[in-house]
Amino acid sequence: MTTKAQTLILFGATGDLSRRMLLPSLCALDADELLPDELEIIGTARSDMSNSEFRNFAREAIEKFLPAERRGGMADFLNRLQYSALDVTTPEGYKELAEKVGEDREIAIFLSTAPSLFKPTIEGLAEAGLADETARICLEKPLGSDLESSCAINDAVAARFPEDRIFRIDHYLGKETVQNLIALRFANILFEPLWNSQHIDHVQITVAETVGLESRVDFYDGAGALRDMVQNHMLQLLALVAMEPPSSFDAGAVRDEKVKVLRALRELEDEESVTGQYRGGASGGKIVPGYDEELGKESDTETFVAIKAHIDNWRWQGVPFYMRTGKRLHERVTEIVVKFRSVPHSIFPDARLKPNTLVIGIQPEENISLSMMAKVPGIEHEGMTLREVPLDIRMPDAFTGKHKRIAYERLLLDLINGDQTLFVRRDEVEAQWKWIDAIRAGWEAEGKTPKTYTAGSWGPSASIALAERDGVSWHE
Ligand code: BG6
Repeated sequence: MTTKAQTLILFGATGDLSRRMLLPSLCALDADELLPDELEIIGTARSDMSNSEFRNFAREAIEKFLPAERRGGMADFLNRLQYSALDVTTPEGYKELAEKVGEDREIAIFLSTAPSLFKPTIEGLAEAGLADETARICLEKPLGSDLESSCAINDAVAARFPEDRIFRIDHYLGKETVQNLIALRFANILFEPLWNSQHIDHVQITVAETVGLESRVDFYDGAGALRDMVQNHMLQLLALVAMEPPSSFDAGAVRDEKVKVLRALRELEDEESVTGQYRGGASGGKIVPGYDEELGKESDTETFVAIKAHIDNWRWQGVPFYMRTGKRLHERVTEIVVKFRSVPHSIFPDARLKPNTLVIGIQPEENISLSMMAKVPGIEHEGMTLREVPLDIRMPDAFTGKHKRIAYERLLLDLINGDQTLFVRRDEVEAQWKWIDAIRAGWEAEGKTPKTYTAGSWGPSASIALAERDGVSWHE
């Protein structure tokens, strides 16, 4: 699909995602002259609002969530916006929406509403003639809570849209450093020959957050860390680290390789996962309550999970992928750590050679760092003194003058331009859920309940033990 969208319809236009991410991202793209000149944006939501009220809403959101230097001529952007009130569960409003869209327009539809509303919305759009071959649709997570509910959503969408016009968001794929992982692996000769079980000892993927429940009590307590973070973001990171080189950087080739990895994930043994739930402590410099206190009741929902995963294929046989994510952890950091094996024979008997480590920092710092053994300058009586030193690339320094973008900027632009490479295909989502469902079934069968950890720590001690049993320490 190469035709650019002429109209973008945002469902859930007055919601939190729209305010924090979508409207600011669209404004930033406009300021950088990346949006097609003729693009119109129609926001819809239940509340009655005039066009000018919606524009005011958008202006406030942009002023709050987009730095002033990125806003450009905001007035031009605001002029692209219209509003159409719509209760997605009743047929009436769709006609007015179709009239606003007009005839012969290429349409991109962004659903940022509760997934329970996807089906009626899609039916309403189809009835109003807004789901034909000129329309593409973008779905925001959560896409179900298990394989079955995810299939139900996918079936409902597939009834009206073919797969090549369905764009499933995983906002981690819009992050600059996540895309840089693809560049690092496949635009350099250095790593690929070493990127396998012969040379890599293990991989760690950490997505640590300092925030707690925020305002998402109902959603989060029904989801937990495994479904909220591992099922999507962390498995996408794992797939990008582990996939075979695709033949090209296009949607089909990249997603074909990712899905093979996701399907090769081995079912976990009991002792290969640890769950946790935070108790009161100090995080981000302030005293914070425990999860149960924030929630106002006891709960078995995990706010932390650590996993030792295996990928059953030739490349990764015997290489554990340790993953951990949690709320109210010690610091906010997302990083991928690739620990290489030791040299096969050391010619420096007095030196403790440390294996090379590649750290790909995704946030908050965008760094790539490779630790190497080097000689400490000086003349010794015997032998040499060696020490580990980092070869660092700090992305902001390497590319000065390039501003940091919101992940949604990339994804919205790709949606408008019709490029699916950074969106998740149905078979990927289903492979992800299949693996996650098996983990949850295992937890249920074992009667596993979360271990407590203090807010501001790195999670329950069992997570440290999970890695240390193999002689591995989490990178901190
Ligand atoms: C979302 C999760 O998908 O990702 C949130 O639902 C989480 O719970 C968020 O906080 C993290 O995203 P980021 O971009 O801040 O790492």
